[in-house]
Amino acid sequence: MISIRAASDQDADDLPDIERSSGAIFREWPGLEWIADDTVQSADQHRALIAQGVALVAEDWESGVVGFLNGELTPDGLHIWQIAVHHDWQGQGIGRRLIAAAGRTAAERGAKALTLTTFRDVPWNEPYYQRLGFRTLADDAITPRLLKVIENEGKAGIPVELRCAMVMQL
Ligand SMILES: CC(C)(COP(=O)(O)OP(=O)(O)OC[C@H]1O[C@@H](n2cnc3c(N)ncnc32)[C@H](O)[C@@H]1OP(=O)(O)O)[C@@H](O)C(=O)NCCC(=O)NCCS
Repeated sequence: MISIRAASDQDADDLPDIERSSGAIFREWPGLEWIADDTVQSADQHRALIAQGVALVAEDWESGVVGFLNGELTPDGLHIWQIAVHHDWQGQGIGRRLIAAAGRTAAERGAKALTLTTFRDVPWNEPYYQRLGFRTLADDAITPRLLKVIENEGKAGIPVELRCAMVMQL
């Protein structure tokens, strides 16, 4: 049985492996197979977001932590930096529950929206978030902050033409 709770410092060391495992799904998507072996957030980055941002984990009562979501409050909403579910646990609604919990946490902290950037067209990215209530921003509607996020992704080697910015009003 899965429950969603706030992440604690004790979780941080386990989260990079969960993200690594989650990325295996990209081996199914021609052209993005390399994401499966890409860099993941470090335990220190997790600790920083646990301390200063929003950090949630999905925990199974037998297996322990199997997924996480983290982000930061910005003037235009809670920006989700990463969501990842261990490969063995995908497709069971855990991602959906993490996003719903992020929405509740964001609203409690006064945020009016969730934002994120993701891969266009990949079934478990843009279309999935659209099914959860996000909308894709047209190029001329992307805020300067989100443009900067995409620009930084480009500097990190991600082809920016494959990325989109999305928002869900709370
Ligand atoms: C995105 C992610 C967190 C979703 O977690 P999850 O627990 O599997 O999410 P859910 O079970 O709520 O839903 C998975 C959705 O992906 C879709 N999906 C999953 N695997 C799929 C596949 N192989 N082909 C097509 N669609 C697939 C499902 O149809 C489902 O959507 P639906 O509920 O609308 O039908 C998970 O896929 C993951 O960790 N991916 C790798 C990391 C990643 O892409 N992070 C997002 C960065 S923006």
